Amino acid sequence: PEQPLVNGLADTLRDRGLKVFGPSKEAAKLEGSKIFAKKFMKELEIPTASYHIVASVEESLKASENFFPPYVLKADGLAGGKGVFICETKEELEAKSRFLFEEKGLGQAGEKALLEDFQKGRELSVFVITNASSYQVLPVAQDYKRLLEGNKGPNTGGMGAIAPVPVDKELLSLIEAFIIKPSLEGLKKKSMLYYGILYLGLMIHKKIPKVLEYNVRWGDPESQALLPLLEGSWLDVFYQTALGQTVDLKWKQNQSSACVVLSSSNYPESPSIEAPIEGSIDFKTENSYFIHGSLKKQNEKWFTKGGRVLNAIGLGENKEQALHRAYEQAQKISWPGMKYRKDIGS
Ligand code: GLY
Repeated sequence: PEQPLVNGLADTLRDRGLKVFGPSKEAAKLEGSKIFAKKFMKELEIPTASYHIVASVEESLKASENFFPPYVLKADGLAGGKGVFICETKEELEAKSRFLFEEKGLGQAGEKALLEDFQKGRELSVFVITNASSYQVLPVAQDYKRLLEGNKGPNTGGMGAIAPVPVDKELLSLIEAFIIKPSLEGLKKKSMLYYGILYLGLMIHKKIPKVLEYNVRWGDPESQALLPLLEGSWLDVFYQTALGQTVDLKWKQNQSSACVVLSSSNYPESPSIEAPIEGSIDFKTENSYFIHGSLKKQNEKWFTKGGRVLNAIGLGENKEQALHRAYEQAQKISWPGMKYRKDIGS
């Protein structure tokens, strides 16, 4: 997770002679501070939305004169997926700015923020494994971040994911040439030690990729879809990467994977908790299973404990089969108010 990396856990462990699959504190700032990441991209000419740094309601409203709605306000610090606000109107922008800067709704994480140009297009998640000198790109995944079908409603931590997403070669080479290579070269040039996984949240519009954000860890829920696609052992991959070796990643052929997030009612605002779970959380088939998120056991019975309760995973020979199996899996469980999107993969 990002917080320990931002706190410098990887450096502390490496200083003690341990092998670590995780970036240094300096490199983790790419996720720890959205402003730091923007400056990094600007310096290295990596394509991203134009922005202003703001720290008060007045500054937000003044900076908004430079953009068309919707206005994108992003808290600078870590906010557990709750720091990005897409505001349709100036009134909404004013309210969210007040929440950050006056009500201190996200504490220190929201002391400063970015006001960004809204990027339309298709979102893709690209993961790169690097051993501080070479890198490999994983199959592309897609996260469905909005709460409701048709990509409507508030942003969440992600309501589902599919992998691999077919991406044409031309687009992949643009991503590699203009985003991946300069990012990794920038890390090296600035001596920001990076062993681990770099997660690039991208927006693709008219075949032009731009960076929405960097994360310095695996993505949730993309990883739940990506991890089963490896031919071999992830432990070997992590260990060899931490040793600085290049691992030749091999992927299962003709294998697709889907993850559907099963959430509590009122997620993401104020998820209802302690709902009794009906059905077996250990139910699985050869091609489907649950990954457990936020739940707890009391007197031999399972209850929800937070917003993102379970993930239904389906594997198949193609996207449709994987999705079908994930949705069949989802039907094996329920709790009062359980919600999930029915259009993951569309
Ligand atoms: N997929 C969103 C995240 O992991 O931040």
